[in-house]
Amino acid sequence: MSIAVQPKIIIHGGAGSSLKSKGGVESVRQSLHKIVEEIYRLLLEGMSAPCAVVRGCQLLEDNPRFNAGTGSVLQSDGQIRMSAALMDGFSQRFSGVINVSRVKNPIELALALQSSPDRVLSDNGAANLLRELQVPDHDPLTELRLLEWIQERRGDFNKEMAGVVAERELVTESSAGRGTIGVVVLDQQGQLAVGTSTGGKGFERIGRVSDSAMPAGNYGTSHAAVSCTGIGEDIIDECLAARIVVRVTDGLTLPAAFDRSFTEAQQNQRDLGAIGIDQSGAIAWGKTSEVLLAAYHNGTEIGDTLEWDDGSLTGCV
Ligand code: GLY
Repeated sequence: MSIAVQPKIIIHGGAGSSLKSKGGVESVRQSLHKIVEEIYRLLLEGMSAPCAVVRGCQLLEDNPRFNAGTGSVLQSDGQIRMSAALMDGFSQRFSGVINVSRVKNPIELALALQSSPDRVLSDNGAANLLRELQVPDHDPLTELRLLEWIQERRGDFNKEMAGVVAERELVTESSAGRGTIGVVVLDQQGQLAVGTSTGGKGFERIGRVSDSAMPAGNYGTSHAAVSCTGIGEDIIDECLAARIVVRVTDGLTLPAAFDRSFTEAQQNQRDLGAIGIDQSGAIAWGKTSEVLLAAYHNGTEIGDTLEWDDGSLTGCV
């Protein structure tokens, strides 16, 4: 009988500007820790990495404070279009949807596409898939996101990106947030998986494609798996998730791969963050933005990066 590997998990709810109020930090912490706790319990019960990733993404998509699923930000025309991807590290198989509307959990579409010959669908293709799968219609719009859009429209969409979390007091007025959610898991079989889901940048022009449903923003193999958050264009320019995973495949440790990739990202003045796990169970994270809303279970205890502010670009456990 093979010995079970100790499972690991790290999740994120975006990256961005300073968290303003301590009360706000505590409520984000509670949300993230609760999800980590629930998914870790499922992993201990033997759930596979891809299933655990999908369940974690569903919980994050269902929480309106995060920019994915319900609570997604609106695009320039006032519509919500979401993107999500799932990568199974064992099969090294990527699937995803781009700019899909009126669905509760875009990550479920990415899961359905894992076994399809056509594994990344956009717009009409994703809408057809929804009909084929008879997924119930769901309006992910929240009142707060609508108010944000109306307020921003008055200012002619000056922000680079919409707020990271759906609580006004959490976001500084001077700086925009960079919302996305992501889950990376190592299961008891020693297999990795990663999922990422987003409402996009917010206020973007119609047809803009997010990094979240590209290997730049969501990538995993049997060596390592990484989910990114931040300005999609910056993540694509760095090809960040794939870059880190390839470095691990070529022999760097996960923390070293994060260090090197984030040093380069900062030199290139990118605004982004990432989380990852490798096959040995090392957990790492990094950010060039002010905050990274991430929480993890290292096999012993739950921790998070909410108040990590020591000036370093990366961290690990
Ligand atoms: N990282 C999310 C986006 O830019 O769409």
